[in-house]
Amino acid sequence: MIRVAAVGDIHLGPGSAGTLRPAFEKLHEQADLLLLAGDLTRHGTAEEGEVVAGEVAGLGVPVVAVLGNHDYQSDQEAEVTAALDRAGVTVLEGEGTVLNIGGVHVGVAGTKGFGGGFAGRSGGEFGEPEMKDFIRYTRRCADGLRDSLAMLREANCAVRIALTHYSPVPDTLAGEPLEIYPFLGSYLLAEAIDEGGADLAVHGHAHMGTEHGMTSDGVRVRNVAQPVIGRAFAVYHLPVHASAAVGDGVRTGADTVGAH
Ligand SMILES: [Fe+2]
Ligand SMILES: [Fe+2]
Repeated sequence: MIRVAAVGDIHLGPGSAGTLRPAFEKLHEQADLLLLAGDLTRHGTAEEGEVVAGEVAGLGVPVVAVLGNHDYQSDQEAEVTAALDRAGVTVLEGEGTVLNIGGVHVGVAGTKGFGGGFAGRSGGEFGEPEMKDFIRYTRRCADGLRDSLAMLREANCAVRIALTHYSPVPDTLAGEPLEIYPFLGSYLLAEAIDEGGADLAVHGHAHMGTEHGMTSDGVRVRNVAQPVIGRAFAVYHLPVHASAAVGDGVRTGADTVGAH
């Protein structure tokens, strides 16, 4: 069993140092890794990036992150990423990483993602160049996610997780105004997850949404925006596929264990 801790939309500002640290320091007692689903800062400044880095440095478990739209607000996303890098956080954008957790290879594929809407209610690559650019950017994010999930499959990962900021499905947006759904996610991300294959998809961004959802192929989706989960982080338990398990002492789960 792999225990995945996840949270997004922590929105730390210059005065936030120490607010999450006490909870994060105990995280290793409950989880094997921590996923950060973007919007880690309020305005995406380098200074705020340092605050986030201070909260998550040296937790004793691997930390993997994607950025969110707020982390791009000040055009300092590279500085935010660098601060997280220095704290040992792996920041993904259209790429994957393989973690060795007690001999089990856990793959995480990540992209911030973008909007566009959901099947039957979505924007398309049509008309003005700005509209084409909007949807093409979402498509590039989705392509990166699909390719990195496929790469993790080839790497024979026992567990694969898709990490985004924007939502792949409308289910986890329930509670948000319908009018803004196209700015909260895109069905292209769900297509990428279903085609690339994953055991769990984690996202943030929709503060008023709902925790639980599912792609059309049955991949469990969890909105871990902090206002949604209402705690420092959520923990999901994922079974390890026997055929892909490596190393000793791995408990394999024949049945899917419900996330909670
Ligand atoms: Fe947010
Ligand atoms: Fe956001």
